[in-house]
Amino acid sequence: MCGGGLTEFYDFGRQPLSDAFLKPDQLEGEFFFRLAVGVCDQCTMCQLMEEVPRDKMFNEDYPYFSSGSSVMRKHFELTATNFLETELTGDDPFILDIGSNDGIMLKTIADAGVRHLGVEPSRSVAEVASAKGVRVRNEFFEESSAIDIVREDGQADVVFSANTICHIPYLDSVFRGLDALLKPNGIFVFEDPYLGDIVDRTSFDQIYDEHYYFFTARSVRAMARSFGFDLVDVERFPVHGGEVRYTVARQGARTPSAAVAEMIAEEDAKGLSTLETLRGFGDKVSKIRTDLVALLEKLRAEGKTVVAYGATAKSATVANFCDLGPELVSFVTDTTPAKQNRLTPGSHIPVRSPEAFTDSPPDYALLFAWNHAEEIMAKEKAFREAGGKWILYVPEVHIV
Ligand code: SAM
Ligand code: TMP
Repeated sequence: MCGGGLTEFYDFGRQPLSDAFLKPDQLEGEFFFRLAVGVCDQCTMCQLMEEVPRDKMFNEDYPYFSSGSSVMRKHFELTATNFLETELTGDDPFILDIGSNDGIMLKTIADAGVRHLGVEPSRSVAEVASAKGVRVRNEFFEESSAIDIVREDGQADVVFSANTICHIPYLDSVFRGLDALLKPNGIFVFEDPYLGDIVDRTSFDQIYDEHYYFFTARSVRAMARSFGFDLVDVERFPVHGGEVRYTVARQGARTPSAAVAEMIAEEDAKGLSTLETLRGFGDKVSKIRTDLVALLEKLRAEGKTVVAYGATAKSATVANFCDLGPELVSFVTDTTPAKQNRLTPGSHIPVRSPEAFTDSPPDYALLFAWNHAEEIMAKEKAFREAGGKWILYVPEVHIV
């Protein structure tokens, strides 16, 4: 974003589109790219080395429906309620959600009768939001769409975005759009996986085609400032394996909270974005691959059954990087109908419904959706009670 130089620190090799679940007749011509991460020597931003064209990832077949998790539904209900009680109390307030998906956050706003708009390029999920009474534009957010929105709806009090800003390589266009779109005292609030948590937990599976940036408070502040904005607040959340919610306002409009300086000081003290730290992270990632493959091969030799739980986008990196296939993991169970009876991208492991899991429980379940561990383990108590075991690979390979 700043024009500085990138130094690559880890290469995951050839990887598919993480959310392109295949029908058996779609195996030919599968798209692959080189998944590698680097860090900017000037602004410390971490990012992918190669960009995948956006239409390949976000289109009418996009299969990630945010409302599939009860914990996330609660998280976004609280987020919306909080906005309704704080920023949206003036005369005819207006809130925008970039990457509104199936309306998980805006549903609460729509129910409260407050003016809102979701911007969502993937028609599969946008249609679900519309059916819930959420107002959606089915397009990518960028400068030109922001200008159209201002013309039609006026400026916004809040622009919110969860798990989407890190998906957008062209953030310069996004910030120019925000400049047109936000009221003078309006705020841009976005939350994404935090590099600090990724490094602390060695959660390398947060790295895949859609996750283009891995933010820190330092890199976000640098980016905001270069577009006439400032980082005025940060807040940590445990969701999705550890996220930070960043609040950005026009420079001088709001006083930065103490939390901003504290988080940046903490990042600097542990050398979060230094090549030494990031290469050390890479060494741990390599060890996880060795350990996970060894464990799965041992279990196969012992005749144990292993299936995976949660056909997450993250798991594309794990399966392809560790070269897992149906011989090591017989199927992946997932609640999403759009993923069921398809094959996982690149690794071609069949995806089955939750009934396939409960009808014939395996000896071991590899928890691909480890970020939903609490919710899933509570739901699958019977599996554990009957002697089933969970395999986790974050922060290291272990069995519970
Ligand atoms: N906000 C939801 C949440 O937190 O669960 C959805 C997150 S989902 C991982 C990312 C969403 O961003 C997808 O629905 C995708 O279609 C959308 N997206 C990708 N690029 C976008 C862009 N430039 N503008 C708006 N939405 C975008
Ligand atoms: P995520 O980690 O990107 O949120 O994706 C979670 C995936 O796991 C998604 O495909 C839905 C699936 N899932 C289940 O199959 N069962 C569950 O109980 C939960 C919470 C998610």
